[in-house]
Amino acid sequence: MDIDKIREDFPMLRGLKMQGKPLIYFDNAATSLKPKKVLDAIYDYYASYCANSHRGDYDIAHRVDVEFEETRKVVANFINAKSENEIVFTSNTSMGLNMIAYGLMKELHEGDEILLSEAEHASNVLPWFHVAQEKNVSIKYIPLDSKGRLTLANLKKSLNEHTKIVALAHVSNVLGYILDASSFAKEIHKYGAYFVLDGAQSVPHMKVDVKEIDCDFLCFSGHKMLAPTGIGVLYGKYELLEKMDPLLSGGGMNTRFDMCGNVSLQVPPLKFEAGTPNIEGVIGLKAAIEYLNEIGMENIDKRERELKKYAIEGLKKLDNVILYNEDSESGIITFNIKDVFSQDAGSYFNAKGICVRTGLHCAKILTDFLNTDGTVRASLAFYNTKEEIDTFIETCRNGGNFLDAFFADE
Ligand code: ALA
Repeated sequence: MDIDKIREDFPMLRGLKMQGKPLIYFDNAATSLKPKKVLDAIYDYYASYCANSHRGDYDIAHRVDVEFEETRKVVANFINAKSENEIVFTSNTSMGLNMIAYGLMKELHEGDEILLSEAEHASNVLPWFHVAQEKNVSIKYIPLDSKGRLTLANLKKSLNEHTKIVALAHVSNVLGYILDASSFAKEIHKYGAYFVLDGAQSVPHMKVDVKEIDCDFLCFSGHKMLAPTGIGVLYGKYELLEKMDPLLSGGGMNTRFDMCGNVSLQVPPLKFEAGTPNIEGVIGLKAAIEYLNEIGMENIDKRERELKKYAIEGLKKLDNVILYNEDSESGIITFNIKDVFSQDAGSYFNAKGICVRTGLHCAKILTDFLNTDGTVRASLAFYNTKEEIDTFIETCRNGGNFLDAFFADE
């Protein structure tokens, strides 16, 4: 991987400064930076063929439709779905998970159980709370092991004949552990339950193959994988999408309706895409996936693991750093500087030109498990470098003497 060439592709990595220091962007789990190829694709849409999708009978509208439906195929290939008809465009992972929760509601009955974990992001907890209240079903949590991982043994102990849905993050957004999703799917399907996978932190960083995993649903966001904000994907097995109710109603998702309230719906995926969609987002997502494919997801995965290992080796040498996930496999590093509140540490990193996320990371139940008020999260992407990590480690080292370090001239 020619990292200098790659960094040239990202305008934000071409010498930008923050607080007068070279920008070090370690908040990739929150959102990724965007390569020029994606920005150009969006500009091209607005500058050369701006029109609505699925609604126009003229040339530029046809071009929009071609690009739009082509993206569905590109996404299907990217995650190895059986067909592009299993790909629904959403606004983000949260929207996809809400659509599934709402869409499956009619299949839930009193006494049923929905199985989650304590490590889930709010997006994969709150929609299920809502459904549980509406349908009077229970939410149960698969216990985490002492390190915060989900194990097959604990899944087996948690499954029973009442389990109807199991919804889990493929990669935890705080601890970065990777779920053994295909083994989980086998166990979950023994009970006839649906397996919903939150791929927000996995799809951008590793090869995810929905056929191999055999999950029933997978949701992810474009903005964490080089595409614009406001575009996401809901993958569902086609026969399940056919059964599911759409959360949103409106133009584009019906074939006809009359004054008596009779409505005929489109078949999936259009059934779930009411209203004018995020066309620039779809076009940007295609460019983003093409860019990722050019580098290769295996190469991205390998590089991010190497960067994480390098960072952990350095951080472990520091007495003033508490690490919460040193052996997780993805590029997420969660830590605290001893005796420093995480958001104060965040301000300190900002003063040194380093972007990290601090606090609870939307995974509020996990905070109790970690027994902390909050953490600092540095999340790496393939375009980060060992030199940036060296600066970050030096910054952490000086963070022990927090106030001195904050105001010290370098
Ligand atoms: N879900 C994103 C994160 O974990 C925003 O930071």
